[in-house]
Amino acid sequence: MIGRKCEEIENNWQTGFVSSYIRNGPVLNNAISGIDLALWDILGKMCGKPVYTLLGGRCRAAATLYAHASGRDPVEVEDGVRKYMEEGYRHVRVQMSVPGFSTYGASDQTASSTRNLRPEGVEDSPVFEPRAYMNSALKLFDHIRSKIGFDVEILHDAHERFPAGMAVQFAKEIDQYRLFFLEDPLAPEQIEHFRLIRQHSTTPIAMGEIIVSSAEWVPLMSERLIDYIRVHLTHIGGISMGKKIADLGYFFDVLTAWHGPQHVSPVGHAANLALDLSCHNFGIQEQTVFGQELQDVFPGCPEIRGGYMYANDKPGLGVDIDEAAASRFPYKSPGGTRGNERRLDGTRIRP
Ligand code: CO
Repeated sequence: MIGRKCEEIENNWQTGFVSSYIRNGPVLNNAISGIDLALWDILGKMCGKPVYTLLGGRCRAAATLYAHASGRDPVEVEDGVRKYMEEGYRHVRVQMSVPGFSTYGASDQTASSTRNLRPEGVEDSPVFEPRAYMNSALKLFDHIRSKIGFDVEILHDAHERFPAGMAVQFAKEIDQYRLFFLEDPLAPEQIEHFRLIRQHSTTPIAMGEIIVSSAEWVPLMSERLIDYIRVHLTHIGGISMGKKIADLGYFFDVLTAWHGPQHVSPVGHAANLALDLSCHNFGIQEQTVFGQELQDVFPGCPEIRGGYMYANDKPGLGVDIDEAAASRFPYKSPGGTRGNERRLDGTRIRP
């Protein structure tokens, strides 16, 4: 990129995309995204405008957020939902631990109690069983709807752990609880099965935080197989490709729900927010709450109030990186890898 023009963002993006001939991988995409976000930030500073203005300008005052409530039993999750509702949230993702098993989005201290159900000779690892998970999730939705009613929007992430047939069964079974969306009922490798879900369920479907090749979005949208795109911006090439995917969704009434977990930095969240504010077909934004240390390292973090995320009006992405503050937090490897979960019999499953 050295010697190239900062303001030629699309030209630079395409140059990066073909730079190694082999393309569409997560490593290359993350590198392109880092440059892409920087170039949009620089262009904003050159023009004296926020990035959302360069993308077409505000469509809304702030981005509606969803919060995460999780717990060991339905009452704990209910308490979490009520707490968020009191703070002004209208959308809450609910996840509950599965008694005796591991699951995504909630931990269970009794997970080792099912180890005696395993055959001899299997590696010691967290145990996941889709039927136990399904039964537990249904119990949770039933509890939330019977105790809180239907006015709050509830979301759920299945994290692509169902075998395809059971995903269809689950999606059909949960229609009665009127979820805002069910996320990742299937893995990206099982896109064909989304047709079966559509034939049997009216639950809106969100999909795609681990998709890296953007061409994969085309059939999902053109065949109306999903309702929300869960793109992880830095895995697909940053704001430039995010805008293209959002605009493709515009024609099919597929809404944005950019991936916003804790491992996205405030710069990444500011990029999500620039698209949230400027895309007409915005759906919802997953929130991360920035603690004081993050706010120290990233001055100008987007602000969260009453279930909404607000951008500041500074030029560019509006968030800075204080390298001196960052140097107080040297990188520490979290250790381990994803993907340790296994079925009772020892079969490896998706993380
Ligand atoms: Co997810």
